[in-house]
Amino acid sequence: MRMIDIIEKKRDGHSLTKTEIEFFIQGYTNNTIPDYQVSALLMAIFFQDMNDEERANLTIAMVNSGEQIDLSAIEGIKVDKHSTGGVGDTTTLVLGPLVAACGVPVAKMSGRGLGHTGGTIDKLEAIEGFHVELTPQQFEKQVNELKLAVIGQSGNLTPADKKLYALRDVTGTVNSIPLIASSIMSKKIAAGAGAIVLDVKTGEGAFMKTTEDARELAKAMVRIGNNVGRKTMAIISDMSQPLGNAIGNALEVVEAIETLKGKGPKDLTELCLTLGSQMVVVGEKAETLEEAREMLLKVIEDGSALDIFKKFIKGQGGNDAIVDDVSLLPQAKYTYSVPAKQDGYITFMEADEIGTAAMLLGAGRATKESEIDLAVGIVLQKKVGDFVKKGESLATVYANKEEVQEVLDKLTAFIEIEETKKEVPTLIYEIITA
Ligand code: URA
Ligand code: CA
Repeated sequence: MRMIDIIEKKRDGHSLTKTEIEFFIQGYTNNTIPDYQVSALLMAIFFQDMNDEERANLTIAMVNSGEQIDLSAIEGIKVDKHSTGGVGDTTTLVLGPLVAACGVPVAKMSGRGLGHTGGTIDKLEAIEGFHVELTPQQFEKQVNELKLAVIGQSGNLTPADKKLYALRDVTGTVNSIPLIASSIMSKKIAAGAGAIVLDVKTGEGAFMKTTEDARELAKAMVRIGNNVGRKTMAIISDMSQPLGNAIGNALEVVEAIETLKGKGPKDLTELCLTLGSQMVVVGEKAETLEEAREMLLKVIEDGSALDIFKKFIKGQGGNDAIVDDVSLLPQAKYTYSVPAKQDGYITFMEADEIGTAAMLLGAGRATKESEIDLAVGIVLQKKVGDFVKKGESLATVYANKEEVQEVLDKLTAFIEIEETKKEVPTLIYEIITA
């Protein structure tokens, strides 16, 4: 088999066979096919697209390019959730205990990553003593007992995706539905997911700026998942304003606890109930989304979700007293309020810019080497659609430094207030089931 023939075939709009896809993925992973040939093929895929069968084969070829996490010692269908990324997205911290309390095993591998705030692991490490260095045996035991454990990233998973993503980044081929969908799905499957729920964000703060693009990506991923034997569902949700009120690591732990107590922000709660219902259904603990939602509401109300959160913290070495006394979490030295400049309705809050303001405080990493400050961040008092009076606080900034003018200015500039109320963006645009 020759790479040149595969490139020409795709260039001319034909579909590639499973063998051809495996050939190029294996060849690229072990450096027998050069970057320039793979670049040409990626550009051909960008213009000619891939059908469902090619997308499924590409996903599995990438899974097979490296190690895979073996979760077979864990009972039940392991359900994983993936979000395409947003600002102040606290859902993972809430969803883990929530669906675990409904009997769905969550064996989560998570990362730190770059961005406005830390990843799930950073947030959890705001809890004194909490650690993610579990042996595979400890990890399996905890998931079997509690239905919930989080472990740090390990192993050489999907090396083909790592190389391809880097190459796409410099060849103008990132923005291709078959390439994005197979990239995301291969990582979930290699990490051991038996079923998958996807939260595809749309809006200013999201990777997919339009609802049409988000829908196309969500549908592509749901089809890949179901075609490779992983029950998969998705939602398309709004990321034009930050999710919930808190943006920052310890601050989001507080918000997660509130939500597990049934007292969280409305949007975060609704998103967690929607995604959680899908997780319970693909995990086969309920037949319908409505039935699953009832189960979730019950485990919030009877305290069992919160109880699992406590046991999970304790199981991973953390101080579970933080659940009843959040002042035990890291505290920022200074707080500043952001007053409204006029009376009116909040019409827009630019998620991206507010996220960047949190990063400037030290809540997230600008580069891999950046130090993160777990105590700092932003808590919004108002969201789009709310009425404010001049001088009333729009947000509180939690900082460990005194020079925060840039952050305060950013918040003032990117929280827009107008005299007339505008339509509040829909939180959940669409629910996509197989
Ligand atoms: N995120 C991924 O993991 N892969 C892509 O291709 C794009 C976004
Ligand atoms: Ca939040």
